[in-house]
Amino acid sequence: MVNTAVTLSGLTLDNPVIPASGTFGFGYEFADWYDINVLGSISCKGTTKEPRFGNPTPRIAECSEGLINSVGLQNPGVDKVISDELPKLAKVYSKPIIANVSGFSIDEYAYTCARMDEQPQVGILEVNVSCPNVHNGGMSFGTSPESAAAVTKAVKAVTKKPVYIKLSPNVTDIVSIAKACEDAGADGISLINTLLGMRIDLKTRKPVIANKMGGFSGPAIFPVAVRMVYQVYEAVKIPIIGMGGVSSARDVIEMMLAGATAVQVGAANLIDPCACRKMINDLPEVMEQLGIENLTDIIGGSHNG
Ligand code: FUM
Repeated sequence: MVNTAVTLSGLTLDNPVIPASGTFGFGYEFADWYDINVLGSISCKGTTKEPRFGNPTPRIAECSEGLINSVGLQNPGVDKVISDELPKLAKVYSKPIIANVSGFSIDEYAYTCARMDEQPQVGILEVNVSCPNVHNGGMSFGTSPESAAAVTKAVKAVTKKPVYIKLSPNVTDIVSIAKACEDAGADGISLINTLLGMRIDLKTRKPVIANKMGGFSGPAIFPVAVRMVYQVYEAVKIPIIGMGGVSSARDVIEMMLAGATAVQVGAANLIDPCACRKMINDLPEVMEQLGIENLTDIIGGSHNG
């Protein structure tokens, strides 16, 4: 019998597979498809202090091997998330969740994280400094080591829960940003968010997406994500949640060999709502094929020798 359990900052997950924020709602929406308690955890829809309608439509552009989204952090705001969404999730999911938080100022990040800190369901705070779809917030905090560290410090000051900072690949040196977050007290790093991309309609000669650009995700970005997880693993001691184009149990293993302790699955949920369950079901057989008894043994395994 293989062992698929992994531990993130003291939190033991039955397996490393976690639906990524923004691709799985608040989780309960998927409970009609399957028993979502098989999931290692769930990273819930990114939450901001105030409700957000999101960006104008169209917000999605299909691409080969992926898609571009420019949702713009649509969410009902932290009050409604706490009063409505988390209780609905608690009815169908009994494990600790990951609260994904975004903001437009350092104070907003701290406020929303402090509110989420009070929620017993929340096991980890995932602070998104990497959304490419909003101005004056999101990614602008994640593109310099100084601003990423400032957000990390402010959030750490208001919570006792583990804080993971979600980083953007749209930078020249992700390692220095990850290190700055670690030095500022981050308990872990999530990477990568989406790559800034664009499509143009050949008939209208206009951008397909109303906001012109958006975040590209899906299998095409998997090698970029593996490379960045590998690089960050070499530089930091805190755990990494790896993500970016993960589409199969074999991808989960590859991401962990690069250095991830757990793995988030994003675009694959939009193609198949049961994608995470399939990966979890496939994991034991793939582990046996590869001679892996304990999944934790392979974390960073590609760095040895
Ligand atoms: O636009 C969005 O809601 C996407 C968020 C993100 O990629 O972080």
